[in-house]
Amino acid sequence: MCGIVGYVGGREAREVLIDGLKRLEYRGYDSAGLALGSGEDLLIFKEVGKVVELERMLQEVPAGSHQGIGHTRWATHGGVSQVNAHPHKDGSGRFAVVHNGIIENYSELKDELEREGVIFLSQTDTEAIVHLVATSFSRTGDILETLVYLQKRLRGTFALALMWQDRPNSIYAIRRGSPLVLGSSEGEAFCASDIPAFLPYTRRVQYLEEGDIAEASPSGIKIWDEKGRPVERPVVTVDWDVTLTGKSGFSHYMLKEIYEQGAALRRSLKGRVVDGKTTVSRELGWNVEMVSKWKKIHIVACGSSYYSALAAERLLEKWTDLEIKVDIASEYRYRHIPCDTSTLAVFVSQSGETADTLAALRKAKAGGAHCLAITNVSSSTMAREVHSLLLLEAGPEIGVAATKSFTSQLAALFMVALQLGSMRGSLAPHEEERLVDELVRIPHKVELLLEKESEVREIARKYTGSKNMLFIGRGMSFPVAQEGALKLKEISYIHAEALAAGEMKHGPIALLEPEMPVLAVIPRDSLYEKTLSNMQEIKARNASLIAVCTEGDSLVPEQAGSVIEIPWTAEEFTPFLTVIPLQFLSFHIGSILGREIDQPRNLAKSVTVE
Ligand code: G6P
Repeated sequence: MCGIVGYVGGREAREVLIDGLKRLEYRGYDSAGLALGSGEDLLIFKEVGKVVELERMLQEVPAGSHQGIGHTRWATHGGVSQVNAHPHKDGSGRFAVVHNGIIENYSELKDELEREGVIFLSQTDTEAIVHLVATSFSRTGDILETLVYLQKRLRGTFALALMWQDRPNSIYAIRRGSPLVLGSSEGEAFCASDIPAFLPYTRRVQYLEEGDIAEASPSGIKIWDEKGRPVERPVVTVDWDVTLTGKSGFSHYMLKEIYEQGAALRRSLKGRVVDGKTTVSRELGWNVEMVSKWKKIHIVACGSSYYSALAAERLLEKWTDLEIKVDIASEYRYRHIPCDTSTLAVFVSQSGETADTLAALRKAKAGGAHCLAITNVSSSTMAREVHSLLLLEAGPEIGVAATKSFTSQLAALFMVALQLGSMRGSLAPHEEERLVDELVRIPHKVELLLEKESEVREIARKYTGSKNMLFIGRGMSFPVAQEGALKLKEISYIHAEALAAGEMKHGPIALLEPEMPVLAVIPRDSLYEKTLSNMQEIKARNASLIAVCTEGDSLVPEQAGSVIEIPWTAEEFTPFLTVIPLQFLSFHIGSILGREIDQPRNLAKSVTVE
């Protein structure tokens, strides 16, 4: 939530910062701002709306600044307004701060600072930080001592970038709980919430640890721990290709990322399913003795990641003898669910930073569970805090709505399920071989399905006037229906609800009328006939039906007005395929309606606040 970026070096700072903010806009986009060093004062520019609005405002400002910090906001404390946009400065204007996270004790700090005569201008928690820096600096006269004190006084999560007028060649960075990375190359240095912000300029990266304080300048980066002791953090060269973070000719990141799913899945499976066997145990550091001790699995996630977990739940039940519980992170963290050394706790998160999932992880870890993170970001907080890690290998996902991360999560979770089944002896070797043989065919089948885009676009045209839509499915198709409904809500703002098809008759059937389209996810599987009966009940009530079914099906087209066919696959793997038409459908409905596909209103890709 919120993206921050900082730069110091020989380039025009505002160009680097605006470019960086655009690459971080997936983190928040309700207002944006910059602080630039001018040699004398710190100049602050803020604008409500997207980064382009800020860019427009800066056209009038003369060039010539080589030091700056920037911010793109997703409002938490204080509404969306110019005054609440970051950066915030202290009363003297000598310090400026941008912040990602939440300061839990900000009212306490604000009261204390106001008693000292400080005047607050905004409603943000961030403003307390910059005033605290200024008042403490006036006492200590030492910047490092001030920042160590700041670390001690702030409660909550934060990543901060700070400028001090007296140091025109430095920017300061501090992190606890929220992500912050540093980048450097000859004569310049960067800090940002995420690597893509500075990827066009450098691939040399340093990850800050919890509590770290850094000073970045053209001559290098100095880092101290929270007590102010100098520390070394390794310089890593990331192998990300800058084109991975661009649109590569597609109109939107979401569309590009839908098309990348075949390649992303190939990367996810590579070297992890070999000769009919699953081999992720090596990467996870698991052995038979360890795995045999587990009695239950908790899988915890939010949003689309939660729906991929629900699909995995059904396979874990089938392939293992473990007790499975899947929960939404914001619920799990406050429930009294026994979690101990006999628990494998799995946290599914594209970003690896979602605050609720992270809190759930910390709770399970404290209870003694073995914690596994399934994430796309190797440097994320979750990746660093768990006992075992399985990376999605999906490549950067920029569109706010999850697409390729969802299918890569299915792959990762299903491999974990296969591995547990084979190690615990609950999945027969010939069954594992059959499943693995089909799993490796999935990327190709996904690519075949991508050819259906224009067909889905034509169907999408019929539903742009709908106010509501229901999605139904059973078994492996119920989580897909849930993911499809979420995509439609996020991208088109059309209200959508997903139902287990068998639940229709217990209430929702009352909603049926010609203006209530129902999308049925009905591949050829063991529950096919049951869902087909539900479709007949729906058709009898004159609702318009769209179906995603297996190719060659002759019965579904008799019920549904619009049909999208998927290639055949084993029942267990149908979600990889059935979800693709639903992604296209929401994309095209949203696109025809002129929605902000990559940055839907009120949403953020990475929700690092509770
Ligand atoms: C936000 C995003 C969703 C995402 C969810 C969980 O709400 O808009 O697309 O599914 O967070 O994110 P995570 O990074 O934990 O998978």
